[in-house]
Amino acid sequence: TWSAVPAGPPDPILGITEAFKADTDSRKINLGVGAYRDENGKPYVLNAVKKAEEIITAAKLDKEYLPITGLASFTKNAAKLAYGAESVPLNQNAVAVTQAISGTGALRIGGAFLARHYPGAKAIYLPTPSWGNHKPLFMDSGLEVRQYRYFDKKTVGLDFAGLKEDLKNAPEGSIVLLHACAHNPTGVDPTQAQWAEISDVIAEKKLFPFFDMAYQGFASGSTDRDAFAVRHFVKQGHQVALAQSFAKNMGLYGERVGAFSLTTKDEEERKRVDSQIKIIVRPMYSNPPLHGAHIANTILSNPELYTVWEGEVKGMADRIISMRERLYELLTNGFQTPGEWGHIKSQIGMFSFTGLKTEQCKTLAEKAHVYMTMDGRISMAGLNGNNIEYFAESVDAAVKG
Ligand code: LMR
Repeated sequence: TWSAVPAGPPDPILGITEAFKADTDSRKINLGVGAYRDENGKPYVLNAVKKAEEIITAAKLDKEYLPITGLASFTKNAAKLAYGAESVPLNQNAVAVTQAISGTGALRIGGAFLARHYPGAKAIYLPTPSWGNHKPLFMDSGLEVRQYRYFDKKTVGLDFAGLKEDLKNAPEGSIVLLHACAHNPTGVDPTQAQWAEISDVIAEKKLFPFFDMAYQGFASGSTDRDAFAVRHFVKQGHQVALAQSFAKNMGLYGERVGAFSLTTKDEEERKRVDSQIKIIVRPMYSNPPLHGAHIANTILSNPELYTVWEGEVKGMADRIISMRERLYELLTNGFQTPGEWGHIKSQIGMFSFTGLKTEQCKTLAEKAHVYMTMDGRISMAGLNGNNIEYFAESVDAAVKG
């Protein structure tokens, strides 16, 4: 029956984890997938999460189905975290929000909703480059995927002029995917002034902004600061779509906790939108899982745990920043590796877009047992005091050839 099914390629990101696991060398390092590791290279379960789980266990909750759109207290708190307590549409009950299978699931519900109900062009513009899963995800949702310029290889920064030109040339009504903070894979974000300009162009051209916010808190260490772009757009009168993930900022990767939301005109419109979100979700997976939503909700609704969590998000962000500084130091003053490495310090969030070529990335995996995605992206969180020198030395060897 399946004789005509061709073998597919491994996933560009998760396939790296598979290769890493198969490597038996003790020096091996996985800088592929964006998952936080502590200073000993170990996965990190946040104390806020452990405490929330104690509270949940003590409450002896049942295992009944959640409603189609998930745990209502969780989605309310998730929306508050993103849009801010002062948000006008939120306070007018005009935000349609549904729990989602983490950020990917949120994007997928959004893609499906837009494909079915968005009255404008069914084309979504992604930054070049973007997270590797964006393109297949939106294509499979039924949208046409196009691109806008984002990263400038020459300056190793934002191609702001190119970005604006491409958005200005997009047909009216097109959808634009924006990384709310900590752009994946480049670690290059617009400044607040640039966000304000992007908001103006999007308004002028009547484009529709769809934010992917997978790293709230991870960019600056502050969840409010990282929500600047989303909140600014809403204040400027845009209606937005938003995908949120709690994988990184709460370390809830495998629990699959996220939310998808749309801001609407008013409560009446919100109710209609809600009803259609349910019609999209029900045949996909009926209703979302319980446990992770309870964890996130307990943290978001308990002031004491919230404070513990905020401190831990900042702690993770700070450790990553210290690794950036150390790596820059090792490559420039330590090994005097040819090239300019300042971007390692200036890039934001979990990733650094090193500029290493595909061939060099391959060499690093084959010769040094150092794994990263083939676009030269490294997850900074995979570095620590024990492996960073070996990593820098391996990069130096790959660059010097
Ligand atoms: C990543 O980019 O590494 C993460 O978002 C994890 C994933 O699912 O790809």
